[in-house]
Amino acid sequence: ADALKIGIAGLGTVGASLAKILVERRDMLTTTCGRPIEIVAVTARTKGRDRGVDLSAAEWFDDPAAMARDATIDVFVELMGGAGDPALAAVKAALSRGVHVVTANKALLAAHGVELAAIAEKNGCILNYEAAVAGGIPVIKALRESLTGNTISRVYGIMNGTCNYILTKMEKEGLSFEVCLKEAQRLGYAEADPAFDIEGNDTAHKLSILTTLAFGTKIAADDIYLEGITNISIDDIRAAADLGYRIKLLGVAQRTDTGVEQRVHPTMVPLDSVIAQVDGVTNAVAIESDILGELLMVGPGAGGNATASAVLGDIADIAKSRPGAQTVPALGRPAAALAPYKRAQ
Ligand code: NDP
Ligand code: HSE
Repeated sequence: ADALKIGIAGLGTVGASLAKILVERRDMLTTTCGRPIEIVAVTARTKGRDRGVDLSAAEWFDDPAAMARDATIDVFVELMGGAGDPALAAVKAALSRGVHVVTANKALLAAHGVELAAIAEKNGCILNYEAAVAGGIPVIKALRESLTGNTISRVYGIMNGTCNYILTKMEKEGLSFEVCLKEAQRLGYAEADPAFDIEGNDTAHKLSILTTLAFGTKIAADDIYLEGITNISIDDIRAAADLGYRIKLLGVAQRTDTGVEQRVHPTMVPLDSVIAQVDGVTNAVAIESDILGELLMVGPGAGGNATASAVLGDIADIAKSRPGAQTVPALGRPAAALAPYKRAQ
């Protein structure tokens, strides 16, 4: 069968991990997907930088939007980050000409997800973004596909690996906030601007996407009570432990009688709860629904390989689909069918 041709925009922590896996596991993926997956185009900020993988056979583009517009690709894989251009312009350009998009960019989706989903639907293409929420945990697939028909009452969890890593290291090793953050950055967990992690915005971006999938409302990332972990000290963590609690940065979205409640803040969770045991870069997402009951998913929430695994799954889904056969709407239902967001009173 014809190869699935992909272009990768962004060859940093996630992009380089993905490229390596695609090259090293080419034969295995060909068997699994029924056709090869080929990297035919790439773009990043710095041409010629060693990415730890031979990409010389792929065409280099200086401009991500030009790659999205001009490269002969089936899938545009956006791994640059940022809510605006160049990611926004490039993703729009790809979807507008019917090229499928896979992205890990929650900031982009939180700001423009509904608009992008509508463009994807209009042009009959797929917009997949499993890696955008909770790294390698398949939470988008769970909400978008597996739980169809359930009424969901609450989605909550630990959705930022950097914060959970910092809180865990501070508690278990007595290290300072700054030292733990630097280590999270070195390990490739943090956002390019780590303020997004520690001030809670990244969790809010992720939560807003889950809210839309869970409750069928338009994305409302600006309507979230937001408090990060910058004010949490080792003394706070110890005091909580003395009382039988651990501090976790949680994102919570729930249906109420008056609307949808969304909040992100440090939370004291009982030491004997499952979520209190979730340490380091691990994330956990709980979904409460009426048919299934409570689903709790725990797994690696950030880092090159964990994230690349989810991106790869999204690409493989496209490789396995046939034109017209893959009809899962990007936001779980057609963009035009999303209800207006109504904040809980
Ligand atoms: P990095 O900062 O490591 O990599 C970003 C890449 O994009 C780099 O290759 C960079 O080029 C390229 N890039 C940045 N700006 C531009 C630009 N203006 N034009 C062209 N290329 C550009 O980020 P990550 O790999 O960590 O993250 C990528 C995306 O994945 C982000 O949306 C992030 O939020 C998301 N994500 C990351 C996770 C993680 O654990 N790291 C987990 C889940 C999602 P160059 O290398 O030349 O500088
Ligand atoms: N910076 C993010 C985190 C990456 O630490 O969770 C994964 O989305």
